[in-house]
Order: sequence, then C-alpha cells, then structure tokens
Amino acid sequence: MQIPDIIIAIDGYSSTGKSSFAKIIANEFSFLYLDSGALYRGVTLFAIENGFINDECVIDVPGLEQALADLDLHFGAEGAYIGDRCIEKEIRSLAIAEKVSPIATVPQVRDFVDRKLREFGKKKRIVMDGRDIGTTVFPDAELKIFMTATPEIRAERRAAEMRAKGEDVKIEDVMKNLLERDYIDSHRETSPLSKADDAIVLDNTDMTMADQMVWLKEIMAERFGC
Ligand code: CDP
Repeated sequence: MQIPDIIIAIDGYSSTGKSSFAKIIANEFSFLYLDSGALYRGVTLFAIENGFINDECVIDVPGLEQALADLDLHFGAEGAYIGDRCIEKEIRSLAIAEKVSPIATVPQVRDFVDRKLREFGKKKRIVMDGRDIGTTVFPDAELKIFMTATPEIRAERRAAEMRAKGEDVKIEDVMKNLLERDYIDSHRETSPLSKADDAIVLDNTDMTMADQMVWLKEIMAERFGC
C-alpha cells in the first residue's frame, strides 16, 4: 500500500542513530531526508571561522545575528553547503561538536534554522531529525519518534563513525562531548530537547537497523494502514 503524505519527526539524544535511521526511512519510502543538526553545525563552522565564538564558547550574539542575514547555508548534492563550498566533512568533526550546542542555544540562530526547515515541510513526504522537530519545528508531524540508547553504546557508535572518516578520536572525549551536549540541549531555554507528548520512544541500545525497520513498519501499519 502507498505510504501517505506525512512528516516523520525524529528527535533524541546525541548519537542515538537518528540520522542513519532517517536516511534508511527516506530511501525506503522515497521521502526527502533533512538533517537539522547539519544546519546548526554549519552555523557553528561559520561562527568559528568568522570569530563569533571563542575558545571559551563566549558568543558575540549581535555580531552573529547580523552576519546570519547574509549567510547562504543550504543543502546540496553532497550535504550541507555554505555558498558553493561543501562543508559536510568539516561539520562532523569533534571541534564543531564541542561548540555546536552553545551555538544552538542562541534564539536568533534557532530562528534562522527553523525558517529554512519549515520551508521543506510545506511539501510533506519528509523525514527530519534533530532535537525539537516534533515539539517546535513540526508540532503537527503525523509521526514522531524519540530515540534513546545508553551513553556507552552511543559513544562507541559515534567514535567508530568518526574513525571510519579518518578522525583519530578517543572514546572518552566522544563520551564527554555527548553528555555535555545532551545536558546543554535539554536545559536550554529556547526549544530544549524533550519528548513530544505524542512521540513514540525507541530505545535502540540492543537493536539492529533491521530490527528498527520492523518496529517502524508495524507502527506504519497500525497508524496509517500501510
Ligand atoms: O548527530 P548528533 O546526534 O550528534 O547531532 P546533530 O543532530 O548533528 O546535532 C548537533 C547539535 O545541534 C545538537 O547537539 C544540538 O545542540 C543542535 N541541534 C538542535 O539544537 N536542534 C536540532 N533540531 C538539531 C540539532
């Protein structure tokens, strides 16, 4: 049966496998996949390169806000771009991960990203992952999933992913970063990470991707008869 025109919102803690799951769903259902975290990471790269955040994570909010007006951050063939420069590889580094959560607390940054994300929502048939997709960006999304897993498994998975891309990381540093981001993301004032009341929790600590797809297909059949 045909998959209906819906928005699937996937939120959850750092490195719970949201983007891997979302990409597979997009492929399977012929949906568009959108990685909201890539935009926060892109703003962070821009802020670092232009001196709007220092090593102590002090942010020049007025300066950054003004510069955002001219920032051409968008998705293209290979992921995230600033103008015609593909930034996909750089934004996945630990250096960006260490500054992204402070940057994502800035309400002006969230407005900038939200405006871009909501443009895509008009078309439906999208799966988007992040921290506030089901609560703030698309509160009316037809299916909301909240992902979680133990910190140990998350750190292991993320370290393996970074090593495969050639970044030599220590598991302790990855774990520290995940926990710091979870804390900042859950405690910020604007759109904190939290489970939407109508989101379904998926703890994938002991699940494979195939298990997750079985889980999802059961939900799709129950909810949408497909
Ligand atoms: O891949 P991972 O789960 O580690 O993170 P991400 O999805 O790339 O997001 C990076 C960071 O951006 C998060 O830790 C949040 O601080 C921020 N973010 C957010 O605040 N709201 C979103 N919708 C998505 C990401």
